[in-house]
Amino acid sequence: MMKKILTVSASNSKNSINRTLLELASSKIKGHAVTMLDIRDYPMPFFSLDTEENDGHPETAKQVRALFAEHDAFIISCPEHNGAMPAEFKNVIDWVSRLGDLQNPMFGANKPVLLLSTSPGPRGGVTNIQTLTQIMPFWGADIKGSFSLGSFYDCVVDGKLNDEKDQELTNVIAGFVNTLSI
Ligand SMILES: Cc1cc2nc3c(=O)[nH]c(=O)nc-3n(C[C@H](O)[C@H](O)[C@H](O)COP(=O)(O)O)c2cc1C
Repeated sequence: MMKKILTVSASNSKNSINRTLLELASSKIKGHAVTMLDIRDYPMPFFSLDTEENDGHPETAKQVRALFAEHDAFIISCPEHNGAMPAEFKNVIDWVSRLGDLQNPMFGANKPVLLLSTSPGPRGGVTNIQTLTQIMPFWGADIKGSFSLGSFYDCVVDGKLNDEKDQELTNVIAGFVNTLSI
């Protein structure tokens, strides 16, 4: 059955390499409806209880929440900043968590999620992926797998992955898509 997959670019950089990786990954999905959410398109103030009390919830947070609610599965490509998720992505999660029920602040009841990351360095942001894998089940995510691409600029030339990494990504995407039909 066709599923609705939301791909999420969790970078606020206009030349995001994580967005490039996400686009390469989504081009490998066939037979499902794929929509991209780039957090750059949903700017929000820095979360604080005071801002929430004074100004309420940003429309952009409501829009993101609605997109999370209406999708069946997620592929998130997340940069690593000092070993953790970028502050802007965490900010989106914090706002959205104020709109949902507290048990499943983001994704709903255990929706399938594939995590991607890349960086110019050799580890490809894997420290952050390990953290996300541990905490995202508390956000209502069922983490199905992950893929970290180190040394982005060596592996992606003229917008194309080298053969070895391309095959690895193909396998990761195929494995994730398979879990959706079970
Ligand atoms: C504040 C800051 C901290 C960073 N920390 C890390 C890090 O801990 N690990 C890493 O692999 N790369 C780190 N980087 C480099 C990022 O991987 C690099 O900027 C990458 O392009 C971010 O992904 P993006 O282009 O999708 O935003 C850091 C970059 C910045 C600006």
